[in-house]
Amino acid sequence: MSPASPPAARLSLENVSCRFDGRDVVRDVSLSVGAGEVLCLLGPSGCGKSTTLRLIAGIERQSAGIIRADGEVLSGDEVHMPPEARGVGLIFQDFALFPHLSVAQNVAFGLHGTKTNVSARVTELLERVDLAGYGDSLPHMLSGGEQQRVALARALAPRPRIMLMDEPFSGLDNRLRDGIRDDTLALLKEEGTAVVLVTHEPEEAMRMADQIALMRDGKVVQTGAPYNIYHTPVDRDAAAFFSDINVIKGEVHGALTDTAFGQFLAPGVPNGTPVDIVFRPQHVKIDFDRGGRGPNPTSQDGTPARGIVKRARFMGHESLVEFQMDFDGGIVKATVPAVFLPKPGTPLWLTIRRDRCFVFMDRR
Ligand SMILES: Nc1ncnc2c1ncn2[C@@H]1O[C@H](COP(=O)(O)OP(=O)(O)O)[C@@H](O)[C@H]1O
Ligand SMILES: [Mg+2]
Repeated sequence: MSPASPPAARLSLENVSCRFDGRDVVRDVSLSVGAGEVLCLLGPSGCGKSTTLRLIAGIERQSAGIIRADGEVLSGDEVHMPPEARGVGLIFQDFALFPHLSVAQNVAFGLHGTKTNVSARVTELLERVDLAGYGDSLPHMLSGGEQQRVALARALAPRPRIMLMDEPFSGLDNRLRDGIRDDTLALLKEEGTAVVLVTHEPEEAMRMADQIALMRDGKVVQTGAPYNIYHTPVDRDAAAFFSDINVIKGEVHGALTDTAFGQFLAPGVPNGTPVDIVFRPQHVKIDFDRGGRGPNPTSQDGTPARGIVKRARFMGHESLVEFQMDFDGGIVKATVPAVFLPKPGTPLWLTIRRDRCFVFMDRR
């Protein structure tokens, strides 16, 4: 018996680039998405997310690289399958239902087969998106959230193997959004569809994704599960994309950098290299001043450094406190998941969880 080869990914991009007017807007992107998996393309506006999606859909053609579905080439040097032959569903922000067609006719739009079969599939899908009984309504009679669910049913109707979604929830108000996001995701997972979701919102990506591909200037700079992307960012900008960050400066000697918060490991960094030590406000611990002294140093939290409260604000689910640090006069921000509003001028001691600090070479 020959060993079975591993199953091909539902969708894969291999070294895909796209050039517009002599400028590469997508650069050497490689991605892989399994059946029932959600990949989020996350990055600031203009970084190439929508273009990547349009390449997968076949609306644009890449200048280099191969796009495959279940091992079959959708687009490469010699092949360029038209969008309608790819088995790909699309949902965009302005999900454009046909205004003159009923809800049922909208959902049936891409379906072929006998009238009975089509009608059965439409009924099934309207039930799945909780719109049973709305088949005869016209789109304008529905709320934004309901219209979005019709768009989802329409995109799912032909059973696409891949679903491409470009900021599909950004037009919905906050109250609706969480519910629709979760329902949409559950439905796509049930159908075993591979999903590529474009968003510029880190919270949305963290909530929705199995894998996040962080994009910048046309490139994927990091791919990983939300937890890993958040806790092991590749560089300072990747860290800053997900939350406010604190940055203190250091210099490396013997693969260590000395700071007021203790020593940090900087493996492989040459002596004399300036580095940024980056940490998130929620990883700062605050302790009271005990007659001019802070808590004892520990291996987990390093050395405490003293700061003076500049201001403290209540943010609803947390308090944000800004400190002016004794060691360099710089500001360090800390968040506390409670009501904690110390008076400006109060001296307090800060420690930072060492396993939540990142040391990056200073490229500025
Ligand atoms: N058809 C096109 N022709 C020329 N430039 C384009 C075209 N489409 C997008 N671009 C440019 O490519 C870059 C990436 O755009 P896009 O993929 O829409 O970014 P994002 O979706 O991440 O905001 C932008 O600078 C945009 O102006
Ligand atoms: Mg876009």
